[in-house]
Amino acid sequence: RHVKMQTACRKDIDRFNSQFLTVFESLIPADEERVKQKQLLTVLEKLVAKEWPDARLYLYGSCANSFGFSKSDLDVCLAIELGNNEKSEVVLKLADILQSDNLQNVQALTRARVPVVKLMDPVTGISCDICVNNMLAVVNTKLLYDYARIDVRLRQLAFIVKHWAKSRGVNETYQGTLSSYAYVLMCIHFLQQRRPAILPCLQAMNITYFRNVDNVECAYFDQVEKLGNFGSRNGESIAHLVWAFFHYWAYCHDYATDVVSVRTGSTLSKRTKDWTRRVGNDRHLICIEDPFEVSHDLGRVVDKYSIRVLREEFERAAEIMQYDPNPCVTLFHPY
Ligand code: CTP
Ligand code: MG
Repeated sequence: RHVKMQTACRKDIDRFNSQFLTVFESLIPADEERVKQKQLLTVLEKLVAKEWPDARLYLYGSCANSFGFSKSDLDVCLAIELGNNEKSEVVLKLADILQSDNLQNVQALTRARVPVVKLMDPVTGISCDICVNNMLAVVNTKLLYDYARIDVRLRQLAFIVKHWAKSRGVNETYQGTLSSYAYVLMCIHFLQQRRPAILPCLQAMNITYFRNVDNVECAYFDQVEKLGNFGSRNGESIAHLVWAFFHYWAYCHDYATDVVSVRTGSTLSKRTKDWTRRVGNDRHLICIEDPFEVSHDLGRVVDKYSIRVLREEFERAAEIMQYDPNPCVTLFHPY
């Protein structure tokens, strides 16, 4: 198994283009959803300002990175000067404030790895998670958003990959498979690697955006509108890219030695990162470097059982893209 195998793409792949685009379009949230999200955010901002006039709310995750499906939850970050308080105390106080308003199912999870308040807004029907001072997530959300503005094929590919991962049950970090965030980074990396490249490496260009967040320097070129049609020299269709993405993860990626790195626009060796052996719970069986927290391997949740599940799913997807008469349907069959 897992012998490197370079197959030529099936000749008729472009026949499936319009079907893949239809799948993409069916997943995009409607404008009314955006409006409702804004409404809820405004309600939350007013409640927070009453208690903490200097605090601010930021959106992050799929509601702000442009990779969100319709009906996805709202991820909110409360940025606040903690003083002598613990995050969990702020979370309790926040839950208190929200409870007294019209919001439903307000729950404070103070003992989670990331303390958070969960709630549901009965007016808009939107569920929402509010965490405290998770500004790295806010900044990496902007990075993903800016990449998506460069070439539409990133958003198309990432939607299809996320839809596949959710359909096949491999988007569950608590079961040892990958987060949506990891899948989007895999897509960015993949499009950086095409020849000609479809995406540049924004962190290797001149810096127009800089934030120091929790002593992590976050710097990159964010004026992407100045890049023109960066990817236009590469005319690969979305169907071809979906084929190539799964082909890459099924047969071409070197799991034993390589680390995917959006930050450098290339792959790094596990040796240079010292990710060659298990340390604590980090097994490094599939390595995806966080673009800013470079000591974070987003594949750290993957264990020796789930790596097999993942790789078998990549192989299944690659086979379907190569041979199936109806890949747009078969690819997303529930597991
Ligand atoms: N995040 C992170 N580090 C991780 C996982 C997530 O910083 N290891 C942050 C990222 O900012 C990401 C956000 O948390 O955008 C939400 O993560 P996730 O739920 O994986 O992605 P969503 O885009 O919200 O996807 P979904 O549509 O599945 O909710
Ligand atoms: Mg989310």
